[in-house]
Amino acid sequence: MLNIILMGPPGAGKGTQAKKIIAAYDIPHISTGDMFREAMANKTPAGLLAAEYINKGLLVPDDVTIKLVKERLAKDDCAKGFLLDGFPRTIPQAEALETLTKEINRPISAVVNITADKEVLVKRITGRRVCPACGAPFHIETLKPKVEGVCDYCGATLIQRKDDTLESLAVRLNAYENQTLPLVKFYEERGLLHDVDGLIGLEEVFKTICDIFEEIK
Ligand code: AP5
Repeated sequence: MLNIILMGPPGAGKGTQAKKIIAAYDIPHISTGDMFREAMANKTPAGLLAAEYINKGLLVPDDVTIKLVKERLAKDDCAKGFLLDGFPRTIPQAEALETLTKEINRPISAVVNITADKEVLVKRITGRRVCPACGAPFHIETLKPKVEGVCDYCGATLIQRKDDTLESLAVRLNAYENQTLPLVKFYEERGLLHDVDGLIGLEEVFKTICDIFEEIK
């Protein structure tokens, strides 16, 4: 069973690899970032609250995020495995997830930690364009859509995320270093951590992840 956590700094390639993983392994993609962006687009109360944090690059409060994931993981489609992308991001989130996965008997099988250095992350984030409809990420240099400005998957017009400014990215990187990096040790201690070099090409990163999945399956 593949019950996977995908972690890494902003721009490491989590969303890009997630698209490939769910297509190859047929497991649901649970991206807290995508869920918040959908709630923001629909102007739900949770979305309006999340927007206050996300647009500044800050993490959404733990209680809001944990509730969202708890509801999603309880759904039937997660019985065949799941891919958590961007969750957990803090120690309290990781502890809540540990309790929850025990309760629902769906233990985490591996944590894939995609690494990349700051200079590359800045280039990736500032050159990224995303599909507002299906969430697919592209890049103006390294991953151009077939038709400029148009999503390959659903045909929507690509946009630049509001939090993809240099100012917001600095806050996001700071949140990553202070709040998310401690999770590396947390999962290392549990024997679940697999580091993957995110600086190599998209296909090579994907191959490395597939090799890890074959090992643990
Ligand atoms: P979220 O949407 O999760 O954003 P993030 O973690 O900052 O990550 P990104 O989506 O920016 O990057 P990515 O790693 O997916 O990179 P991508 O594949 O697009 O979260 C957004 C916000 O929501 C957070 O800041 C927070 O406010 C809130 N939030 C979400 N989860 C939360 C939680 N658990 N708790 C609290 N708050 C939460 O790649 C980037 C670019 O690089 C793309 O253009 C891509 O084409 C390119 N690229 C990728 N890989 C490669 C490669 N190997 N070679 C060349 N180019 C590449």
